[in-house]
Amino acid sequence: MDKKRNKYIFNRLVFHFRPQNVPESNLIFNHTWGLGGISATLVILLFITGILLQFVYEPLPGNAYDSIVYLQNDVLFGRLIRNIHHWSANILVLAAFLHMMRVYFTGGFHHPRRFNWIIGLFLFFLVLISNFTGYLLPWDQLGFWAVTICTGMVEYIPLFGSWLLKIITGGSETGSPSILFFFTIHTSVIPVFLITIMMFHFWHVRKAGGIVSPVSLRKESWEENSGGKDNNTKTVQHLIVRELVVALVLIAFIMVFSILFDVPLQEKANPGLSPNPAKAPWYFMGIQEIFLHFHPLFTVFIIPVIFTSVLIFLPYIKYDSDVSGAWFFSRKGRKMGVVACVTAIFVTPLAVIYDEFFVDLNSLIPQLPEIINTGLFPVFIIIAAITIFYIWIKNRYSASNNETIQAVFILLSVSFVILTITGVWFRGSGMALAWPFTVL
Ligand code: HEM
Ligand code: HEM
Repeated sequence: MDKKRNKYIFNRLVFHFRPQNVPESNLIFNHTWGLGGISATLVILLFITGILLQFVYEPLPGNAYDSIVYLQNDVLFGRLIRNIHHWSANILVLAAFLHMMRVYFTGGFHHPRRFNWIIGLFLFFLVLISNFTGYLLPWDQLGFWAVTICTGMVEYIPLFGSWLLKIITGGSETGSPSILFFFTIHTSVIPVFLITIMMFHFWHVRKAGGIVSPVSLRKESWEENSGGKDNNTKTVQHLIVRELVVALVLIAFIMVFSILFDVPLQEKANPGLSPNPAKAPWYFMGIQEIFLHFHPLFTVFIIPVIFTSVLIFLPYIKYDSDVSGAWFFSRKGRKMGVVACVTAIFVTPLAVIYDEFFVDLNSLIPQLPEIINTGLFPVFIIIAAITIFYIWIKNRYSASNNETIQAVFILLSVSFVILTITGVWFRGSGMALAWPFTVL
């Protein structure tokens, strides 16, 4: 009797945020790889461990570092809690990025999910800012200088740059007001936004009738398939159980990982002694790598604005056909994706090496200002190269614009990943190119 009652209460609880039945296609693991659920589980882990850390952590430059040392050495499970918080945060960046890729490559961003794509982008932004604001809190050399490098870039934003820098740092450099500002943003402002917007994100998934169905199960006909049936299935018995399994496996993995690998803690921050090289956190290394090649105005403002606008408007472009639900749209789309990926793998490192050793963009045309030589001119070349690639691959494969836009998306994403890898592993002293794994 009690068991029945417990089950009833559990089900009622679940039905507050999930429907009683979901389409069978929502259960296919390799359609989503559980990445949205994995991201959500990581956020919950971060909240629990973050609150625990707050019992010991002191957000003042004089105390922050010592409170972390105390946490690690004298508090029961203190080191483990810090490790779980740190690794979950880093894995979250990866999981959210892969989730975004999954959504894009299964066409989950078309109508009626267009606005949810934009909400997702905002969530990704919040995840990055959470990570970034957390990075400063241990107040060691690593976090201090990584944050100093990034806040230094903010100054180049036109009109608002120095104002923004003042707000972030409380002055002109990283110091006592910065740690309090970062702490408040990290532990109060972002968590509230993150939870609220996550709820909105989930509500939109439900409003769209669950996740996008694989093409083979869609009721409308499609070029290779017509009229597969997407039956409904009971949420608790099938979906919730699967989600719980994925969450438990993830938590077990993070526990083991956190027991085996300690989070680094360097010496206490010394504002007078910059490490060499001084690097941004790994998820911003792609931007720091671009910074090494382009004019700062282009790196911190024009390129990010173009890139973010493209991501925001991606769902609103007029596509040739609606093929949401099919991985990579079609077989041809997959083939073109491979071509784009291979092109990025070859061309990006070559461009980095060429700029590093063979050309000095600064003195390309000495009479012209730096902003043209290292900004306008190379950006124009890149946009022209992307346009040529677009036209070439579209004609070569007689492709639809869905498939061609996807190929360009892959080209740019893989290039950005390669720039990040270059920055993290192939930059040594003075940020010069160096053979791998020199300094992290
Ligand atoms: C998406 C959510 C979050 C992310 C991505 C995140 C990320 C991080 C990162 C990367 C660090 C630095 C860890 C280190 O290297 O030591 C950190 C530290 C910290 N976080 Fe979070 N965090 C999140 C949520 C929270 C929440 C909700 C709280 C508390 C309410 C919190 C409290 C703290 C505290 C007190 C520290 C300093 C202790 C330390 O550095 O070990 N975090 N966070
Ligand atoms: C904290 C970060 C995020 C969390 C916790 C989260 C969570 C989820 C979950 C649980 C789903 C249901 C399907 C699934 O598991 O794949 C989902 C779907 C979706 N997410 Fe996210 N998400 C996050 C970030 C993002 C990002 C960065 C994007 C894209 C820019 C995005 C766009 C979408 C879209 C469009 C859907 C509907 C896709 C479909 O119907 O197949 N989300 N999200």
